[in-house]
Amino acid sequence: MSIMHSNINTIAAGYGYSGGADSDSVEVNPLFARPKEAKAFSKFKIPQEGSLPETAYQVVHDDAMLDGNARLNLATFVSTWMDDYANRLYMEAADKNMIDKDEYPKTAEVESRCWHMLADLWHAPDPMNTIGTSTIGSSEACMLGGLALKRRWKEAREKAGLPADRPNLVMSSAVQVCWEKFCNYFDVEPRYVPISEEHKVLDGYDLDKYVDENTIGVVAIMGVTYTGMYEPVKKISDALDRIEERTGLDVRIHVDAASGGMIAPFIQPDLQWDFRVKRVYSISTSGHKYGLVYPGLGWVVWRETADLPESLIFKVSYLGGEMPTFALNFSRPGAQVLLQYYMFLRLGFEGYRRVQQAAHDVAKYLSGEIAKMDDFTLWNDGSDIPVFAWMLKDKPDRKWNLYDLQDRLRMKGWLVPAYPMPVDLTQVTVQRIVVRNGFSHDMAESFLKDLKACVKYLDGLKAPMPSEARVSGFHH
Ligand SMILES: Cc1ncc(COP(=O)(O)O)c(C=O)c1O
Repeated sequence: MSIMHSNINTIAAGYGYSGGADSDSVEVNPLFARPKEAKAFSKFKIPQEGSLPETAYQVVHDDAMLDGNARLNLATFVSTWMDDYANRLYMEAADKNMIDKDEYPKTAEVESRCWHMLADLWHAPDPMNTIGTSTIGSSEACMLGGLALKRRWKEAREKAGLPADRPNLVMSSAVQVCWEKFCNYFDVEPRYVPISEEHKVLDGYDLDKYVDENTIGVVAIMGVTYTGMYEPVKKISDALDRIEERTGLDVRIHVDAASGGMIAPFIQPDLQWDFRVKRVYSISTSGHKYGLVYPGLGWVVWRETADLPESLIFKVSYLGGEMPTFALNFSRPGAQVLLQYYMFLRLGFEGYRRVQQAAHDVAKYLSGEIAKMDDFTLWNDGSDIPVFAWMLKDKPDRKWNLYDLQDRLRMKGWLVPAYPMPVDLTQVTVQRIVVRNGFSHDMAESFLKDLKACVKYLDGLKAPMPSEARVSGFHH
C-alpha cells in the first residue's frame, strides 16, 4: 500500500468511508468513484456528510470551468491577468482583513500610501493634505463620494435654516448602475440628463434645467460604461460656473473615473479632468479595472481632508491610536491593496503608461478594422479609454442583428455583449469591446478573423434567426 493510499484511507475513515474493497476503487480511480461520491452533490442544501478535499476541489473547479474563459471576455473592465509574483503575493496575503488596522498595520500603511499616490497622480493641490480610502470596488467608492456630497449639502442647508429633505444628484442617463443604487439606497432624487446622437455624453448642455438649490452635486464620468467615452469634465465645470454666476449655487463635481482614472493620467496627461478642475472635489476609480489588480478593489480620494465631512468618519484603533475610516463594509480583503502597491512599484509611471498605451493601440487598431467592414458603423473609436462600441448600418434584407452576432462569437469563445443604449436612445443597439492588458495584438487579429467568419455565416442565412423574447443579458 502506498503512503498516498494509506493517507487517503485515513482521511476517508474520518468521513465515514468503509475502506476494504472500496479502497481499491480509491486507488484505481480516486475521483467520483468512491462510495457516496459517485452521485451528484446537493446544490441547495449543505450536504450531510463532508467529502475529501480533492473531490470537493474538483467539483468546484469543474463548475467554474464551465464559466467563459476570462481572457476572452471582452465584456469586462475587470483585470483577468496578473503576473506570477502578484499571484504569489495574493496567496500570501489572502488572510488579511483590511479593517484590522491594528493587527495589520503595514497593510494599513500601504493602503494610505496608495491613495496618496493617487492624489498625487490626480493633481490634488497638496497630496499630503488629502483623505481617501480603498473600497471593494468603484460602486462603494462612488457611494462614499455621493454620501460626502449629500452630507455636506445637508449640513450647509441646515446651517442656513433651509429645508434639506429633497436632495437630488445630476448625471448622465448613461451612468453606471451604482449611481442608481446610490440614489435609491440613500434617498436622493436622480436627475438624468439624457444622452443623444448630438450629445453622446454629459457635456454641460442643458445643465441649468437640472441643477437647483437641492442639487448635492454633479457626477462626471471618465469612461462611460456603455461606450468608453470621456465626459468633458472641464466643460461641465464651465457650465456650472455659468450657473453659479446666475444663481449663486456652488455645485461640486464627483468624477467617477472607474476606468479613466487609471488611463488618462498616463496617456492623456494634458486632459483637464481631475483636481486641476477646481469644482472636482472627489474622484473614484477601480483598482481592479485599469489599476490592473484582480477584482475586489476601488479607491476614492477627496481634494482636501476638509472636503470629507467629519460627521461621516469613524475611528478605528491603530497602533494604540486612532485611524479615520469611512467605508460601507467592515471586513474586506486586504490582499488587493497590497497587490495595488505591488503594481505601482512593479510598473512605475512609465510601465503603466506603456501598458495602457498598448491597450489603446490595440483598441484603435480593432475599431479601425471593424469600421472598414460593410455592416458596421462605430459609435466611438476607443480614443478615450481603450473601449469602443459599434452599431449595425441599415440594410433592409439583413437576416441577423447584433444579438445573433454576439451568440455566434460566443460559440468561438469570445464574449462580446450587445445591448441597447440607455433611456431615450433604447432604439440604438450597440456591441462593445473592452481592451485590457493581456489582450494582445495577436489576439485582436484572431478575434477579427472570427468576427469576419461569423458575419459571413450570418450573411448566408436564408431566413432570420429565431428571436423569441430576446433581451440583452448584459448589465452595466
Ligand atoms: C463608470 C463606472 N462607474 C462605476 C462602476 C462600478 O464599478 P465596480 O464594478 O468596481 O463596482 C463601473 C463598472 O463598470 C463603471 O464603468
